[in-house]
Amino acid sequence: MKQSLTILLFLLPTISISLCEPLDPKQVKALQSLNIPTTKDPCSQPSLVCDTSTPLRHLTTLQLSNCTSPHLSLSFAALKSLSTLNTLLLLNCPFTSTASPTRFPSQLASTLRSLTSVNSLRNISAVSLSHLRNLTHLTLSNLTIKASAPYVLFSHISNLQTLTISHASLAGSLPKHIHSPNLTYIDLSSNNLRGNIPSSITMLDTLQVLILSSNQLKGEIPYSIGDLISLKNLSLDSNSFSGSLPDSLSAIPGLVHLDLSSNQLNGTIPAFISQMSNLKHLNLANNLLRGVLPFNSTFIDKLQVFKVGGNGNLCYNRSVLSSKLKLDIAPCDKFGRPVSPPPSKQKRSSADDSSRDGDYDEGDYDDGGATVSHKKEHHHGPNKLVLGVAIALSSMVFLVVFLILCSKCCR
Ligand SMILES: *[C@@H]1O[C@H](CO)[C@@H](O)[C@H](O)[C@H]1NC(C)=O
Ligand SMILES: *[C@@H]1O[C@H](CO)[C@@H](O)[C@H](O)[C@H]1NC(C)=O
Ligand SMILES: *[C@@H]1O[C@H](CO)[C@@H](O)[C@H](O)[C@H]1NC(C)=O
Ligand SMILES: *[C@@H]1O[C@H](CO)[C@@H](O)[C@H](O)[C@H]1NC(C)=O
Ligand SMILES: *[C@@H]1O[C@H](CO)[C@@H](O)[C@H](O)[C@H]1NC(C)=O
Ligand SMILES: *[C@@H]1O[C@H](CO)[C@@H](O)[C@H](O)[C@H]1NC(C)=O
Ligand SMILES: *[C@@H]1O[C@H](CO)[C@@H](O)[C@H](O)[C@H]1NC(C)=O
Ligand SMILES: *[C@@H]1O[C@H](CO)[C@@H](O)[C@H](O)[C@H]1NC(C)=O
Ligand SMILES: *[C@@H]1O[C@H](CO)[C@@H](O)[C@H](O)[C@H]1NC(C)=O
Repeated sequence: MKQSLTILLFLLPTISISLCEPLDPKQVKALQSLNIPTTKDPCSQPSLVCDTSTPLRHLTTLQLSNCTSPHLSLSFAALKSLSTLNTLLLLNCPFTSTASPTRFPSQLASTLRSLTSVNSLRNISAVSLSHLRNLTHLTLSNLTIKASAPYVLFSHISNLQTLTISHASLAGSLPKHIHSPNLTYIDLSSNNLRGNIPSSITMLDTLQVLILSSNQLKGEIPYSIGDLISLKNLSLDSNSFSGSLPDSLSAIPGLVHLDLSSNQLNGTIPAFISQMSNLKHLNLANNLLRGVLPFNSTFIDKLQVFKVGGNGNLCYNRSVLSSKLKLDIAPCDKFGRPVSPPPSKQKRSSADDSSRDGDYDEGDYDDGGATVSHKKEHHHGPNKLVLGVAIALSSMVFLVVFLILCSKCCR
């Protein structure tokens, strides 16, 4: 008892001393370049976390958000002096492209675990990112990533758990081999990715979220996608995927969010989707799906989001589903085809009363065409009339002037 008290008494001053140690002056300078006030103890600010080392303390976490200062700069030298950071988060702190680092010093590579830049850094090289080998969380949005191919990133950052690179002009194709055994989250939306989803995607069997929306990916959704049995969220919308919905999706029991909208998927909607008991968000709109919708209202009512519009050859069974559900597709005839033929071959009136997304577009085009040719006819009418009136008027004026001149001459 007495002994432990002595130890405590002995420890207390050391702890308090180490808490009062100054921050490494090089890091103080780096903070100043980020317009962070350093007059008081910088480590007492909520956006910063420092370690307790002596004789100088070092930053371990730096979080900047909603910066109002227009002159933020983070030089390579400043980053180098910040190489004790394991978390760097920049949210809505826009750097000008000249003041934004394009690569990371190797000193940061061993320490950095979490890097987030949303609306902040401007232009980063993928090779430099790939050197951050101990990263577990990477979130980059609204910047430009210079990469020969995305595999550069994946092949080196093998500790990743979450990866978000969106609105980043990332080009190239998805890597064939991704060795990130602990990866649970991938969001590569709104980039310029091309090519197929490699069937080796199945290697990512811990994946819970896969978002590849708004790219230029094509080909069939690989059957092996069903091996991602931990998936909760699959968003492949706004690409050019074709073929049918893979049956293997039925093997993913925990799917909550399935968005395959705005692709060129064809075939019928598989009935097993209605057995997916966790599904809350189902968007299959704007594809080439056809046939009878295999769902009843019990299933549809359970969903928070359900969209199937913009599939011209898809229809619903009137004796199963009520038209009050506003499904944006036509009811089926007895052959399982939409009752009204596609409106592109129809007159205006039927395009008007349909509320189908895709159909509307076609309808609008037709209307546009009609209006343009209408306008042309109208243009001809008034133009001729105006010309005629002008000629008549000017000849009358000419006649009057001639008569006046004549009468003057004749005097
Ligand atoms: C930053 O601004 C957004 C709104 O623009 C706000 O929702 C958010 O809480 C702010 N973050 C911080 C850390 O102040
Ligand atoms: C990653 O961190 C470990 C210690 O956690 C360290 O030994 C290793 O050198 C680091 N890796 C790199 C590439 O710096
Ligand atoms: C990005 O940085 C590189 C130099 O690292 C430069 O050549 C390139 O022009 C920059 N791109 C943009 C879009 O700023
Ligand atoms: C992306 O960053 C640019 C430059 O800072 C900014 O003007 C733009 O609004 C940002 N875009 C989004 C979607 O936030
Ligand atoms: C994966 O995570 C486990 C537990 O969190 C950890 O022990 C292991 O080292 C990680 N593997 C890699 C390659 O990061
Ligand atoms: C799934 O991803 C979408 C983006 O595609 C996002 O809006 C949604 O919140 C995510 N849902 C879940 C449950 O993760
Ligand atoms: C569906 O799309 C695939 C790939 O584009 C094509 O090969 C197939 O013929 C299409 N099937 C139907 C029924 O249209
Ligand atoms: C609706 O469909 C589900 C799944 O196919 C089925 O289990 C359920 O019995 C159906 N409900 C009604 C009222 O038909
Ligand atoms: C519509 O549903 C009824 C009752 O389940 C069934 O008898 C009929 O065959 C279905 N029609 C089509 C076109 O699938």
